[in-house]
Amino acid sequence: MSENDKSVVRGLRDVAAAETKLSYVDPNGALYYLGYNIDDLVGRVIYAEIAYLLIHKKLPNQQELDELSSQLIVEMNLPDPIILSIKNSPKNCHPIDILRTEVSHLGEYDPDIGDFSKAANYRRATRLVAQVPAIVAAINRVRQNKPVLAPRSEFGFAKNFLYMFKGDVPDDTEASVIHRFMTLHADHGFNASTFAARVTASTNSDIYSAVTSAIGTLKGPLHGGASEKVMDMLDDIDLEKDINEYIQGLLDEKKKIMGFGHRMYKAQDPRTKHLRGIVEEFLHRERSLTLYNRCIQIENAVFEKKKIYPNVDFYAAVTMDALGVTKEFFPLFFASSRISGWVAHVIEQYEDAVLLRPSSEYVGEFGKEFIPIAER
Ligand code: COA
Repeated sequence: MSENDKSVVRGLRDVAAAETKLSYVDPNGALYYLGYNIDDLVGRVIYAEIAYLLIHKKLPNQQELDELSSQLIVEMNLPDPIILSIKNSPKNCHPIDILRTEVSHLGEYDPDIGDFSKAANYRRATRLVAQVPAIVAAINRVRQNKPVLAPRSEFGFAKNFLYMFKGDVPDDTEASVIHRFMTLHADHGFNASTFAARVTASTNSDIYSAVTSAIGTLKGPLHGGASEKVMDMLDDIDLEKDINEYIQGLLDEKKKIMGFGHRMYKAQDPRTKHLRGIVEEFLHRERSLTLYNRCIQIENAVFEKKKIYPNVDFYAAVTMDALGVTKEFFPLFFASSRISGWVAHVIEQYEDAVLLRPSSEYVGEFGKEFIPIAER
């Protein structure tokens, strides 16, 4: 197609912008990481194995996993200026804004500064997998006026994340849930934030800039911000309200139901059943049971009216609530998991070495007469 003979693909729907070996989103309702169906991974791997799989394109052996896990825990100790900057951030901004800023800030303290070798990029990628959750944990602690915690060597990486975030030692169920949650959120094809990271990397910009772009893109309610909006909806529904009427009201106002629909899946999102299953492990708790019952009713109502299914964010919201995460931190837990996918895609993009730069169809005017400012 020549430059003058192009047609707009609105929203880039179904456009394959590059090749990837990292993950495959099957529209019929399956998700593969490096060829492994996530149904065969969830609950059978720890999250660090998935981070290794995405970055190194193979599952680690025990020694490789042990090395990575120890390295991740060491890297969870953030540079002091980052912690100071978190402490100085305004109390009324959304925590994802602080995360976005501090990832950008980390670039200034990169121990490999000026080294653009492949080995340095692998080191940066590994560091970011550890530093993003560590920043998220630190933001939460500072917001609660509590001390920022250092990782504990006797805990694994994902358990440390939850411990450093909350300050309590996670029990066995919570530790198992955080591994499954992070595994399920680690990668998802060319989703908007990953694509943003790849566009930035495609100019040969650095990995911190790419991840900063990704976080800014994830923030929106049509992407990683959706789970927080799901909780807003669940909070908004009181027991007096008829859920069918509530959903119909939103649809009548042409509002999107948060946590429903997906660009890629024509069938159920394969992650939903795992997250719904996790929530079912917490049904002995009154709050989780109440939220779960609302979710089931909403799921039925939305399917009846629109024939669309819940996406990853719907039950992720109740999962994070059960872990004791407040809703403004939901997108940050998403980022803390998706960071492994982002850095893996950035490395893959560097290897592809092609500038991602689409064209556009100009629909403006031509030949307008210039009028000097004094005459306008
Ligand atoms: N609530 C109500 N209707 C929805 C919907 C939702 N959450 N998601 C899609 N639809 C409907 C649209 O209204 C449209 O219906 P129509 O053809 O009758 O007009 C149709 O389904 C296609 O929707 P569209 O917005 O074109 O799909 P998309 O591929 O551009 O958007 C999402 C995908 C994810 C952005 C969209 O489903 C959405 O906004 N969901 C809510 C936000 C969310 O949960 N995001 C997290 C995604 S993992």
